Amino acid sequence: MTASNEAEFDARDLRRAFGNFATGVTIVTTVDADGQPHGFTANSFSSVSIEPPLLLVSIAKSAYGCGIFTAARGFAVNILTQDQRDLSNRFARAGADKFLGLEWQTKASGSPLIDDVVAWFDCEHHEQVDAGDHIILIGRVLQYSYNTHAPLGFCRSAYISFGLTPPMLQMISSPGSLRVGAIIESNGKILLERDPDSGQLLPPISDNVGDADSPESLLGKLASAGIEVDLPFIYAAYHENSRRCVYYLGELQSIGEAVETGRLRFYDFDHITWEEINDTATISMLERFIREKQLDNFSTYVGDRETGETHPA
Ligand SMILES: Cc1cc2nc3c(=O)[nH]c(=O)nc-3n(C[C@H](O)[C@H](O)[C@H](O)COP(=O)(O)O)c2cc1C
Repeated sequence: MTASNEAEFDARDLRRAFGNFATGVTIVTTVDADGQPHGFTANSFSSVSIEPPLLLVSIAKSAYGCGIFTAARGFAVNILTQDQRDLSNRFARAGADKFLGLEWQTKASGSPLIDDVVAWFDCEHHEQVDAGDHIILIGRVLQYSYNTHAPLGFCRSAYISFGLTPPMLQMISSPGSLRVGAIIESNGKILLERDPDSGQLLPPISDNVGDADSPESLLGKLASAGIEVDLPFIYAAYHENSRRCVYYLGELQSIGEAVETGRLRFYDFDHITWEEINDTATISMLERFIREKQLDNFSTYVGDRETGETHPA
């Protein structure tokens, strides 16, 4: 998708284009004249300068907190861990009471420094730049702290994890045969394959990821049906008896015409024939996918086929 005439830029599309830049997630905080804490979720954070120590974050002029932030003595940037997705959602909602039940401390600027974040930076205002529908807050760092917790990531409107979590790594490296599969969605439909012997439906699977030139591999099987995908995230990793199952969340790149006539077919979410999927673990994974797709908020399942946990993806 290419757009070249500013006068015709579609705001949602431009936001989507900017959203291809993978970032961390922060909560930017301050206190108002009455000592009340305020904060909002932001991924526009950037480091600016080492000497002097400067950083920036931009706040929408339409945000409830905009006037409070520009009038305050300073602000703080709290970088979230991959376990703080709920906190990110909480501070992305407009309004008050965002700090209810939350533990925080303050340093020189008086802005809330949230407990258990990856890093925080306490800042005084250095400069404010009027920039279109946002104000860029440039802060001078007065004090900071950081640790080795895994940071939360954000890209294309979804939270992401930057690496394999320890339970996932343990699961993938344990012995046993391997099944790799892909959950591939397009316009409210999901790609399923009919097994020629049993007649059962399953997401496309193989015993290796491979590439487009190896017909037995997952990517090869998809390529011969005219489907090109990227596999950026692991969606589920679980044990099924002695077999390890790893399902990727596939991002469709291109699709040929052969798909609707071959063993692989896209099924409308509402028209999946669940009785043809003879596997409760696959059913619960697909049900979770459909639920999360509607919220556009994916997580990763790690465990065995009966018990496990979902983690922020
Ligand atoms: C991941 C994520 C990143 C965001 N980044 C920004 C940002 O950089 N600047 C901004 O003004 N709003 C950003 N928002 C939206 C604000 O968090 C949201 O508008 C919030 O309601 C503002 O709070 P307030 O209206 O109570 O001040 C982001 C939201 C999310 C979920």
